[in-house]
Amino acid sequence: MKEQLNRIEGSAKKELSKISDPKRLEEFRVKFLGKKGELTQILKQMGKLSAEERPVIGQLANKVRSDIEAAVNRRREELKSAAEQMRLAAETLDVTMPGKMQKIGRSHPLDVTLEQVEEVFLGMGFDIVEGPEVETDHYCFEALNMPKHHPARDTQDTFYINENVLLRTQTSSVQIRTMEKMRPPIRIISPGRVYRSDAVDATHSPLFHQIEGLVIDKGITMADLKGTLELLMKRLYGEEARVRFRPHHFPYTEPSAEVDLMCFNCHGKGCSMCKQEGWVELLGSGMVHPKVLADCGIDPEVYSGFAFGIGLERITMGRYSINDMRLLYDNDMRFLEQF
Ligand code: DAH
Repeated sequence: MKEQLNRIEGSAKKELSKISDPKRLEEFRVKFLGKKGELTQILKQMGKLSAEERPVIGQLANKVRSDIEAAVNRRREELKSAAEQMRLAAETLDVTMPGKMQKIGRSHPLDVTLEQVEEVFLGMGFDIVEGPEVETDHYCFEALNMPKHHPARDTQDTFYINENVLLRTQTSSVQIRTMEKMRPPIRIISPGRVYRSDAVDATHSPLFHQIEGLVIDKGITMADLKGTLELLMKRLYGEEARVRFRPHHFPYTEPSAEVDLMCFNCHGKGCSMCKQEGWVELLGSGMVHPKVLADCGIDPEVYSGFAFGIGLERITMGRYSINDMRLLYDNDMRFLEQF
């Protein structure tokens, strides 16, 4: 029996040194120390021993048991701390490593310009209104004095949804919607998207943005239009900005004018940026046509007003010397980061 006990202790220690995971360790414990374990089996046979042998063997058996128990506990602690070491190593943070650059978003140049335009007009007491992009022929053309087959329609290649419904080609449609709803004095701007069936190139896009303006009151004259637009251009381009009004024709204004900005690059001399003109066309404007007023229920004998439509892309490109409109829509971070 003594031999048996010594053999068990020997093989237990040998086996234990090979165990490297906690599950196997528990199996080992049950195998040697459990109720059906080898040691217990031996102790059951103690009854067969003589009275002198019993205490000697009993003592030895207890020592073997407690030795194995202690060894198991030690091994368990070793495994636990090894696991802990591994976890710590895996979670180690090297705070001296360089960080990852996070890109910070910025306002799009079109938004920056629009916000500034809105600020100028809010400062002059204008309201900002919006109109639908899917529009009827009536608001986009008919009520603006452009009946079907009017030649001015040709200049605006229209996306028709059906005979009467279209994607608006100009924010001028909001003039009519506003005059139908509001009574003078009216002072609004209306920014938004417009659509034209144009091929994409450096100066054209099937989707672009306009800012419409409309002022109706008693005694409004062309001088108010000039003063308002000159102020806007000085705010956008600086005090040295020079604008000129050039006679033009729009069916919904009389008289009509296009407004040009003196080329910043050559100061009116002519260069490649202004196509040798010395001036860059910025917007269309005029005094609201009496027929348009009357059709909206506003008496042209009592009231007069001016209107204008600005291309947001155009004034943005001018401010930042952007020579290709496509840059504004490409979402190229290298471009957008510059603003
Ligand atoms: N709607 C014109 C365009 O898209 C711009 C314009 C011209 C707007 C004259 C106006 C205006 O309000 O009075 O080209």
